[in-house]
Amino acid sequence: MARKDDIVEALPQEGAEDAIWLMQRYYLTGMAATERVTWRPQFGPQAIAIDARYAVDELFLGGGRGGGESDYLLGDFLADISQGANWQGILFRRTYPELDELIRRSHVIYRGAEYKVGKHEWRFPSGATLKFRHIDSAHDAAHYQGHAYQWIGWDELTNWPTLQSYDLLKATLRSAHNVKGMRVTATGNPGGPGHTPVKQGYVDVAEPMTPYVDPVTGMSRVYIPARICDNKKLLEADPRYLERLKAVGDDAQVRAWLEGDWDALVGSFFTIKREEVMVEPFDIPPDWQ
Ligand SMILES: Nc1ncnc2c1ncn2[C@@H]1O[C@H](COP(=O)(O)OP(=O)(O)OP(=O)(O)O)[C@@H](O)[C@H]1O
Ligand SMILES: [Mg+2]
Repeated sequence: MARKDDIVEALPQEGAEDAIWLMQRYYLTGMAATERVTWRPQFGPQAIAIDARYAVDELFLGGGRGGGESDYLLGDFLADISQGANWQGILFRRTYPELDELIRRSHVIYRGAEYKVGKHEWRFPSGATLKFRHIDSAHDAAHYQGHAYQWIGWDELTNWPTLQSYDLLKATLRSAHNVKGMRVTATGNPGGPGHTPVKQGYVDVAEPMTPYVDPVTGMSRVYIPARICDNKKLLEADPRYLERLKAVGDDAQVRAWLEGDWDALVGSFFTIKREEVMVEPFDIPPDWQ
């Protein structure tokens, strides 16, 4: 079983991070390994999550808005494209329009690979492929019966009201080859229809960055928190994003999205405070029967 220490120890040594991404760039474009790297994980949650990819079966990176979660998914798939045709991935959002931003960003990061527009699919020179798909309900999950993927990604997992589709798709995580690091990986923020199942499944079962083994499935999973302050690239390019995040609404919403606080929104559907509706105990009058 993977331990917390495995993940912490797996943090990139100085220089090692560059070497990995230079290598991936080579497989991506066929260019010399000395070519400039187009993407590498930022120090912090992104690097920790990518280095943990062989330590657990399922990973959830998230918490705050703008923590670099969607970029992480695109980079995490890229991290193993050297496995060639044995590395087939699928990345889900709940609706098709929600895929737009991921597809736009993938064109920046996957420069050199071929995008099949009609199929919504990337083909890498190594033979690896990544499909973008939307899936609304468990009914749609049935369409994937018989498929085989080695990497499954879910962006904004809290947008699905249950984890039913997420769980059903695990049956497609398989390989007839000796593939390294088959995994399911997801991102998301507090709030949304799937807040509670994600919180219960990932956030509440163990301390952050501490793998938990599901007693039913035997699969290990880990929650890695990420917040806007971890996304230095975004803050450098758009320093006022932080102010806009603070202006999204009430205190609870700001705490949820800025701090990645999964408890901030509990009870926020009722704006009255609990103590305001409590009354002193009294005897029930007989005519209330
Ligand atoms: N490793 C990276 N290298 C370069 N730029 C990055 C990296 N990670 C994130 N960014 C920049 O930060 C932007 C926002 O990151 P990203 O879309 O991953 O955030 P997010 O956490 O998914 O946001 P949201 O919670 O709103 O969906 C990216 O579009 C990109 O410009
Ligand atoms: Mg995102």
